[in-house]
Amino acid sequence: MSTPYWIYAAQWADVQAHEVLPVSTDGHDLALYSVEGQVHCTANQCTHGNAFLSEGFLIDGEIECPLHQGRFDVRTGQPTCDPACDPVRVYPVKIEDGRVYVELS
Ligand code: FES
Repeated sequence: MSTPYWIYAAQWADVQAHEVLPVSTDGHDLALYSVEGQVHCTANQCTHGNAFLSEGFLIDGEIECPLHQGRFDVRTGQPTCDPACDPVRVYPVKIEDGRVYVELS
């Protein structure tokens, strides 16, 4: 069993300003989202094809993939609109002193 660890990902203000922010850290391509005052994190790679979710549109807590317009709930990673059918990985996040940390394990 691997040990979870938290890693700094971004300033919370930057996530809020952009709504969707791509972050590459510690070998992981991630997307951070600002939804109703909460921060969420998923893998940035769409599970349907070769596209970055961070380049899509965030609509009511769902990220729309820019390539085929599949959608995922950024809180759960579950697909909500075809052609996306496999969930995208979600990561635990926390904010401390205005800094966003992601738990990688
Ligand atoms: S690549 Fe994302 S829906 Fe097809």
